[in-house]
Amino acid sequence: MARNTIARIHPDAVAHNLRRVRENAPGARVMAVVKADAYGHRIDLCLPALAGADMLAVATIEEARAIRRLGNGLPVLLLEGVTDSGDLAVAAELGLELTVHHRQQVEALAHFGHPVTPRVWLKIDSGMHRLGVEAAEVAELHARLLELPGVTRVNLMSHLACAEQPDHPLNARQLGRFDEAVSGLDGEHCLANSAAIFNWPAIHRDWVRAGIVLYGISPMDVGSGNDLGLQPAMTLTSELLAVNRVPAGECVGYGGRFVAPEDMLIGVAAIGYGDGYPRSIADGAPVLVNGQRCRLAGRVSMDMITIDLSECPEAKIGDPVVLWGKGLPVEAVARSAGTIPYELVCRITRRVRYRAQPAQRAGD
Ligand SMILES: Cc1ncc(COP(=O)(O)O)c(C=O)c1O
Repeated sequence: MARNTIARIHPDAVAHNLRRVRENAPGARVMAVVKADAYGHRIDLCLPALAGADMLAVATIEEARAIRRLGNGLPVLLLEGVTDSGDLAVAAELGLELTVHHRQQVEALAHFGHPVTPRVWLKIDSGMHRLGVEAAEVAELHARLLELPGVTRVNLMSHLACAEQPDHPLNARQLGRFDEAVSGLDGEHCLANSAAIFNWPAIHRDWVRAGIVLYGISPMDVGSGNDLGLQPAMTLTSELLAVNRVPAGECVGYGGRFVAPEDMLIGVAAIGYGDGYPRSIADGAPVLVNGQRCRLAGRVSMDMITIDLSECPEAKIGDPVVLWGKGLPVEAVARSAGTIPYELVCRITRRVRYRAQPAQRAGD
């Protein structure tokens, strides 16, 4: 029998979360960010639920190609753009829209000489200092882009470094720099990521870029998606491989990190860092066994974790274990692991099976 370690994907939750984005940004069009295989949720399982988005955004040509192979015809933006002429040819063939974040990409488009896309997104560095052209170059590059073959519209975008912290002074500084750089230029504005969609209505402008919230996860430092009216789009599940009695004073797992304070029951679940469960996670991290909140006890191995079953003394081999998702926010698990939920969902490995889980009907 196949190992029962499964990422259950809830397309109905993705569709619900997209509606929540629209409710929160009623005047804006929605770009659904589906890079990194839909933040680890698998693009093929999520795309049908995103049919109501206005556009999709990915990081790489390969991700865009996967979307086109699935037969999806929504506009797709390459967030990193391209510089290589071979990639420009592929972008033209696949009908992709381009981010232009560097002068070199304008040169590459001019050198390519054929139409690639009628709509280009000029990305401005407003203070994050990752991708984006400098404010002083914006007007010149905007004009040059409009002279390229086939280009009829240049939209204006930027990315915020601290949108999940509404009071951070960088937010206002970035917005001020953006507005100054684009003053007098024609083109729609696109600034807001998930945090800004929920925190900062003033910057919704023409387009919002919704990523993590589509998967039901909060971008904020505290709380969970539930606080924003979101539903988790993934439940990572496994089962108990063993239930063992461990006497007081004995240690559990590699390095003997956890020492049993009393005689106790320890459950062993079939998931480990080989599946993407974080090895950095602390003792006491939450895990659900039979729907009951239990505590991780001992270091995570490649294939297994060990769980204190004090809250679930009837547990037996084969009983269901939830690592995160419905009933256990991935945000809480990420905090126990000293990371962000984005990383946890993105790094599930190929060993884990994925299954789309149809919506439960009332009474199921
Ligand atoms: C340029 C850009 N826009 C939007 C997003 C979406 O961010 P979030 O998932 O926080 O909504 C990302 C994600 O990293 C990004 O890199």
